[in-house]
Amino acid sequence: MNVQRLPTNSPIDKILAGGLEYGVVTNVYGPAGCGKTNIALSSLLSVNDGKIIFIDTENNFSLERLGQLTDSEEILKRIIFFRPENWAEQVKIVNQLKDVAEKEKIKFIIVDSLVALYRLEINQENFHNINRQLATQYSQLSKIAREKNIPVLVTNQIYSTGSGKEDIEMTSKTIARYWSKALVELQKTDKPNHRVGIVRKHRSLPEGKRVEFIITKNGLEEPKFKLF
Ligand SMILES: Nc1ncnc2c1ncn2[C@@H]1O[C@H](COP(=O)(O)OP(=O)(O)OP(=O)(O)O)[C@@H](O)[C@H]1O
Ligand SMILES: [Mg+2]
Repeated sequence: MNVQRLPTNSPIDKILAGGLEYGVVTNVYGPAGCGKTNIALSSLLSVNDGKIIFIDTENNFSLERLGQLTDSEEILKRIIFFRPENWAEQVKIVNQLKDVAEKEKIKFIIVDSLVALYRLEINQENFHNINRQLATQYSQLSKIAREKNIPVLVTNQIYSTGSGKEDIEMTSKTIARYWSKALVELQKTDKPNHRVGIVRKHRSLPEGKRVEFIITKNGLEEPKFKLF
């Protein structure tokens, strides 16, 4: 059977057998600056027709960076941006995505990041409710991915320990692991701009597959001299 995949146009394609699988949610996670938004930008360049939904929760989208990755300005016209300013707005936007996907020819959905506003909102009193809302968002995104047969990419920033929110991190990880059919961890290395991508969960590929890449002006590239 031929599984449809959207190339990320990066060495990550090597560990994902070609790219982001259609019909499911792929989750890319890691610390600040590890390359999550870069992978999102580089992946959307593979969408040749139709619309792309980009939910940008941290004002992370950089027009300048996109301009470094492509000369085409045409792609910008096909991106529908949403910029929720708080968790309640994000809940509302994801809730309405199905309707947007009915009206527009949506070919790819990105939520960068899914949990930034969640982290700001959650506390000892509301955590049951907020976690339920996070699971609902995953469920809604998974449903659209499946019904529309499109790839959905969500990113997840992992914070350093000692932030006092470890229990939140654990819960959101459990929810993420349950709902994401593919999980890719990005790690920083000692070398500047060198990163490692590791498959942590996949339906049809072995876990633990890893690849090294460099973030360069032109995009995400394989190093000439590899660590492994
Ligand atoms: N033109 C460029 N040349 C080289 N490196 C670049 C260039 N543009 C961005 N970078 C590097 O990319 C990294 C940021 O990547 P990215 O924004 O994808 O990270 P992220 O995982 O999304 O981080 P965050 O969690 O903060 O959103 C930085 O280390 C930055 O130096
Ligand atoms: Mg980012």
